[in-house]
Amino acid sequence: MRIPATDILTGRRILLGVTGGIAAYKSAELVRLLRGAGAAVRVVMTPAACEFISPLTLQALSGQPVREALFDPQHEAAMGHIELARWAELILIAPASADFLARLRAGLANDLLSTLCLASSAPLYLAPAMNQQMWQAAATGENVAALQQRGVKLLGPASGEQACGEQGPGRMLEVSELLAACSEHFATDANPVPLQGVRLTITAGPTREAIDPVRFISNHSSGKMGFALAEAARQLGARVTLVAGPVSLPSPAGVSRVDVQTAEQMLTAVLAAPADIFIGCAAVADYRPELVAESKIKKQAEALTLKLVRNPDILAQVAQTSPRPFCVGFAAETDSLAENARAKLAAKGVEMIAANWVGARAAGGGFDSAQNALQVFWADGEQTLAMAPKPQLARQLLDLILSHYPGRRP
Ligand code: C5P
Repeated sequence: MRIPATDILTGRRILLGVTGGIAAYKSAELVRLLRGAGAAVRVVMTPAACEFISPLTLQALSGQPVREALFDPQHEAAMGHIELARWAELILIAPASADFLARLRAGLANDLLSTLCLASSAPLYLAPAMNQQMWQAAATGENVAALQQRGVKLLGPASGEQACGEQGPGRMLEVSELLAACSEHFATDANPVPLQGVRLTITAGPTREAIDPVRFISNHSSGKMGFALAEAARQLGARVTLVAGPVSLPSPAGVSRVDVQTAEQMLTAVLAAPADIFIGCAAVADYRPELVAESKIKKQAEALTLKLVRNPDILAQVAQTSPRPFCVGFAAETDSLAENARAKLAAKGVEMIAANWVGARAAGGGFDSAQNALQVFWADGEQTLAMAPKPQLARQLLDLILSHYPGRRP
C-alpha cells in the first residue's frame, strides 16, 4: 500500500526571486502556497518588481524581511547576500522578465537577485513572463537557449491572453503549476510526489439532456467538488483530464479540460481518456428524452408527456473496461445513505463510493454548496470525512484514494 507523502516541501529552503512584470502580483499567492506546503521562503525583489507589488505584501506572506538592495548594511549584519545564496536549496524566479533573462545570461551582478544567482550553487528555476513579442524576439530565444544549456530549468511560459491585451506565448505558468514543479524537484523515491505520472480522469458537474432547441433536463450540480478534486490531484502530480458538464467554473491550472453537455458525450470523452484512476463526480442525468424535438415545442395541449430513456451509466461502463482504472463513484442520497452507497459499490463494481446527503438532510453541504461532508465506503471499510470546504475535502478524499490505490495498472 502506498501512503501519500504530504511533506515534500516541509522545511525546504526556497529563495523566490521576483522581477518586474505584471505577473508579479501572482507571486503573493505563490508565497502563500509554498508556505502552506511547509517550505521556508525568502523573497528577493528587483527594483522593477517593487513597482508592481509592495515588498510589504511579500514580507507579510513569507514571514521574513524581503530583500531588494545589494548594499544593505542592516541585512549584511544578519543574513548577507552570500549567506542567502548558500541558504537557498532552490532558487525560483517568478516572474522572470526578458531583462532579467538577458542579465542572467550575461552573468551580470548589478542587483541583489542577479548577484545571488551567480553566487549560489542551488538549482535555478525560471518562470518567464512577458509580452508575446518579447518572448519570441531572437535575443530572448538566444538567452533562453544559453541558460538552458547551463542547466537552468524553464517553467513555461504558457500561451494565452496577456495583460497587454495580446494573445500568445509569454504568460507566467499558474502558481499551482510552479508549486507542483517545486514539489517534483524535492521529491525522492522515499518521499515521492504522490500521483506523479498517474493518469486521472474526473467527471464533474451536471449533464444537460435536450428536450427541444431551448429546453433541457438537468440538475443542481455545480461542479465544485469535481473541480476541487481536479485541482488537488494536479497539485499531487497527477495528469488530470477533467470532463465537465455545463458549469461556470474556471479550469484549474495544468488540467486538461473537455467540455460536454450530455451523458452520451461525457461517456465518449471519458472513454477517449485512458486513466489509472477514474473519479465519477458528475451528477449524470439518469434519463434523457427519447426524441429531441427539432423545433420549440408549443404550449397547445393541457398536458405534455415526454418519454424518457435510460442514459448510459458512465461509471459502471468504465469499471468494465480492460485494463480498468481504480474507480471511485459518488452517491448523493436523500435516504438510507449507507445502504444505498454499499449497494452502488457492488452494483457498479467500483473500489470506492463517496456518499453525501442532499436535500433536507444535507445540513449545509451537498449540491452547489462551498462545503460538504462525505461518508466513504470500500469493500471492507468506511470512513467519514467531516464537513469541510470542498478543496479541503477533495484533498482528504484523494489521500484516502491513494491509501487504497495499488499503483499503476498494467
Ligand atoms: O446510480 P447513481 O446515479 O446513484 O450513481 C452515482 C455515481 O454514478 C456517480 O459517481 C455518478 O458520476 C455515476 N453515474 C454515471 N453515469 C450515470 C449515472 C451515474 O457515471 N448515468
